[in-house]
Amino acid sequence: MITFAARIRKEQPGIRAALADATNTLPVWVKPVAHHVLGQGGKRLRPLLTIFVARLLGYREPDIYPLAAAVELFHTATLLHDDVLDNADLRRGQAAAHRVFGVTETILAGDALLASGNSAVAAYGDARLTAVAAEAIAQTAGGEILELERQGEIAPDLSTYLEIVTGKTAWMIRAACEFGALKAGAEADRVRAAADYGLNLGIAFQMVDDALDFAPSERTGKPEGGDVREGKFTPPLFFYHASLAAEEQAVFARAFHERSFTDEAVNAVVTTIRARGFDEQARALADSYLQRARQALDRLTEGLPPSPERETLGAFIAHVRDRRA
Ligand code: IPE
Ligand code: IPE
Ligand code: MG
Ligand code: MG
Repeated sequence: MITFAARIRKEQPGIRAALADATNTLPVWVKPVAHHVLGQGGKRLRPLLTIFVARLLGYREPDIYPLAAAVELFHTATLLHDDVLDNADLRRGQAAAHRVFGVTETILAGDALLASGNSAVAAYGDARLTAVAAEAIAQTAGGEILELERQGEIAPDLSTYLEIVTGKTAWMIRAACEFGALKAGAEADRVRAAADYGLNLGIAFQMVDDALDFAPSERTGKPEGGDVREGKFTPPLFFYHASLAAEEQAVFARAFHERSFTDEAVNAVVTTIRARGFDEQARALADSYLQRARQALDRLTEGLPPSPERETLGAFIAHVRDRRA
């Protein structure tokens, strides 16, 4: 039996070659930044989705790879910009690009990667692909801006959080899937199903990521409780805050707003969140979006015979749910 991991591994050389082709045409000053961040690996989740959705719908041409690579270029650009916004030291286990090349250079390299991806998409001469790309980039920026605007705020519910993650994370994953369906020449209903699958998978992906913020750092390679420190009101913190008495809520809200938690205070929040299972509660919330992704996958595959691609797209759902690092 060919495993999920083996199917994914098999696609990596094609993705790698298309990314190398794209980066070769970058302006000379951008190449070191692009090589730095792209050479650090990454799961290549988005290009894999483009490829598997297109194949599921019967598309077999090798010109899917530059399109798949374009979405990874967009994603890479947003990571470069995100690490500047978050003042992050590490990305993919190594120094963040802005720490190595400087903030200005990194912002401009991100812009150049966005342009390179756009140019690759435009080369297909299909205005629908170009529109999907533009919308996904705008939505990512919108989600990032909303997150910054609301930093340090305690919200009465998770509606703003959902709006943030839909923009900053889910929309690009949605675009990856929509790319695959459009390139395969699918009819409107299937394109919508592919988009819904990606959007819900993406929301769940970010929710699990936010639950993992409270997992042991030996496992994740990230500091525990970073979101507490940074004033990001994610689901585990929503459940934690809701469990506090009114006076405790006021103390928490002040420190959250001022970003003035001591290391001990962060550790105490992390310990309580784990002990009381608020991170697991966030995973349960992610499950409800994964169920929607499963329903969208059923619509996407309606009337199609069983196929390895269908299994693989189903396995992505399980993979997001079970991610522990
Ligand atoms: C990181 O995305 C940003 C989030 C949406 C949490 P990935 O977890 O897909 O990052 P790479 O590409 O595998 O490094
Ligand atoms: C992910 O956001 C960045 C984008 C999707 C643009 P986060 O800031 O939450 O993720 P990490 O922790 O830096 O990967
Ligand atoms: Mg970040
Ligand atoms: Mg961020």
